[in-house]
Amino acid sequence: MRIPDLASDRLVLRPLRPSDAPDLAKYCQDIEVSKYLAVVPHPYPENAANDWLEKQDKGVAGINMAITRNDALMGVVGIKASTERDVGIFAPTIGYWLATAYWGKGFMQEAVRRLLDWYLPLEPTEKMCAAAFEDNPRSINLLRNLGFEEVRRDTGYSVARGEKVPEIIMQLTSERFQQMGCA
Ligand SMILES: CC(C)(COP(=O)(O)OP(=O)(O)OC[C@H]1O[C@@H](n2cnc3c(N)ncnc32)[C@H](O)[C@@H]1OP(=O)(O)O)[C@@H](O)C(=O)NCCC(=O)NCCS
Repeated sequence: MRIPDLASDRLVLRPLRPSDAPDLAKYCQDIEVSKYLAVVPHPYPENAANDWLEKQDKGVAGINMAITRNDALMGVVGIKASTERDVGIFAPTIGYWLATAYWGKGFMQEAVRRLLDWYLPLEPTEKMCAAAFEDNPRSINLLRNLGFEEVRRDTGYSVARGEKVPEIIMQLTSERFQQMGCA
């Protein structure tokens, strides 16, 4: 599937490019970002961004989009197929991060809403899943604002922290997304 550029009020979501590697490496080195993610290591190895971008090219890492504003990369939002992560619900999983300089301005809510606007009508299960660590209220609030509801508590693993972390598994149906006035 060719993934289109997705524009919203302030942002453009676009496919990632090899030239994004330096920005990805710069932002993923920040423990304030990686400690809330499952698989981003800390310290962030020199070639990790290039290796990850190569996987995108091969189409084996789900759909990942660069979040940009005025052509500057601010973060990434992506969707993994239901088979890529065992969260106990047969639904694709959304994940995201934003460089700290851009936090608290509603950018991620705008980016996730835009990606779901495009993606949910394509998804036969009409469900999305997300997992947020319990100590990440920003992400939990963001998901609730978009209509995600808690389905259960679990324990995830943060590679950056090197430990297990309590997490909340949340789910969104297309119907609820529409009820929230998001589509
Ligand atoms: C989580 C993250 C993407 C949020 O991005 P953001 O652009 O700052 O989020 P938004 O501004 O769109 O919305 C965040 C929501 O949390 C609220 N919030 C902000 N700071 C908060 C805090 N310290 N405690 C609780 N809620 C907070 C915001 O007010 C907003 O809710 P509201 O619209 O009801 O006010 C960003 O903090 C991030 O990249 N963190 C590191 C990586 C990460 O956590 N990824 C998600 C893994 S599940």
